[in-house]
Amino acid sequence: MHARQNPIVAFALLALVSLVGFVAAERSAGCGKNPTISSKQYTISVNGKQRQYFVKLPDRYNKDTAHKLIFTWHQLGGSAQKIVNGEDPNRGGVLPYYGLNAISNNTAIFVVPNGLNNGWGNQGGEDITFFDQLVKTVEADLCVETSLRFSTGFSYGGAMSFAVACARPKMVRAVAVISGSLLSGCSGGNDPVAYYGQHGTSDSVLNVSGGRSLRDRFVKNNGCTAVSPEPQPNGSRSVKTVYKNCKEGYPVTWVIHSGDHNPSQTDSGSSTPFAPQNTWEFFSQFAAN
Ligand SMILES: *[C@@H]1O[C@H](CO)[C@@H](O)[C@H](O)[C@H]1NC(C)=O
Ligand SMILES: *[C@@H]1O[C@H](CO)[C@@H](O)[C@H](O)[C@H]1NC(C)=O
Ligand SMILES: *[C@@H]1O[C@H](CO)[C@@H](O)[C@H](O)[C@H]1NC(C)=O
Repeated sequence: MHARQNPIVAFALLALVSLVGFVAAERSAGCGKNPTISSKQYTISVNGKQRQYFVKLPDRYNKDTAHKLIFTWHQLGGSAQKIVNGEDPNRGGVLPYYGLNAISNNTAIFVVPNGLNNGWGNQGGEDITFFDQLVKTVEADLCVETSLRFSTGFSYGGAMSFAVACARPKMVRAVAVISGSLLSGCSGGNDPVAYYGQHGTSDSVLNVSGGRSLRDRFVKNNGCTAVSPEPQPNGSRSVKTVYKNCKEGYPVTWVIHSGDHNPSQTDSGSSTPFAPQNTWEFFSQFAAN
């Protein structure tokens, strides 16, 4: 249709634009700027220590589009480089960016921090300070929807995502903790955060009770109804439990499987790790505020 717009349509469009303008209040300062950050490794000084991290922009990055911002923390002995490159999932490795860049069709900005001594001891809260500085640095330069920040990781990286949910509940919309435990602390930890957790009942590194107790903190904070008896895997198939009666905007989803300490667990009959799809479904249910 090529007709000239009538005044009523024009007025409606104007109203829509001002509405969009209102919604746009949570766009980062980097929106509209030509970015100086590109997809590569950077160093930043945090409490006097040199810290490394990678940033990954969507291949078709648009400086006027407010993007999701996803933190991906590595496991103990892992590295940011290994999250960027990915490792063979058939040998217990993770797909690049925990599989989320591929599933998101290259639409999110990823921040991939590197741990001191390859872990997230978070001594004196220094890794949370690292997180704070990364948010600030990246958002000053890149266009982020600040109501759509996320955090995920496996093992120690799950512990770090849990620590972020505890200490910075207003800064992340949701976290996904894959086979985590209480290793990076929990400063605060009394506010709701949307929570995806996944754990194996045969986890020989971080037992399943540790993973359940992390989950239960947010079941409580989010006001969800506890589930009893404790959900169990269905043979070699994972079982997903969506908690009920959580406060609006603060869901909890729990996936229990029968496997070991493995970020790339699959269900029997499938060769596709389920953590990436589950995590992306959980994160992408949220719209910009
Ligand atoms: C992924 O993005 C490209 C480029 O924007 C688009 O052409 C394609 O249809 C998208 N694929 C899916 C599965 O959404
Ligand atoms: C699980 O691990 C924690 C921390 O290492 C430990 O305190 C706890 O006793 C373990 N629980 C079981 C049931 O093995
Ligand atoms: C368990 O898995 C089988 C398929 O192996 C399925 O038929 C059944 O419905 C599942 N049970 C539950 C409780 O999910």
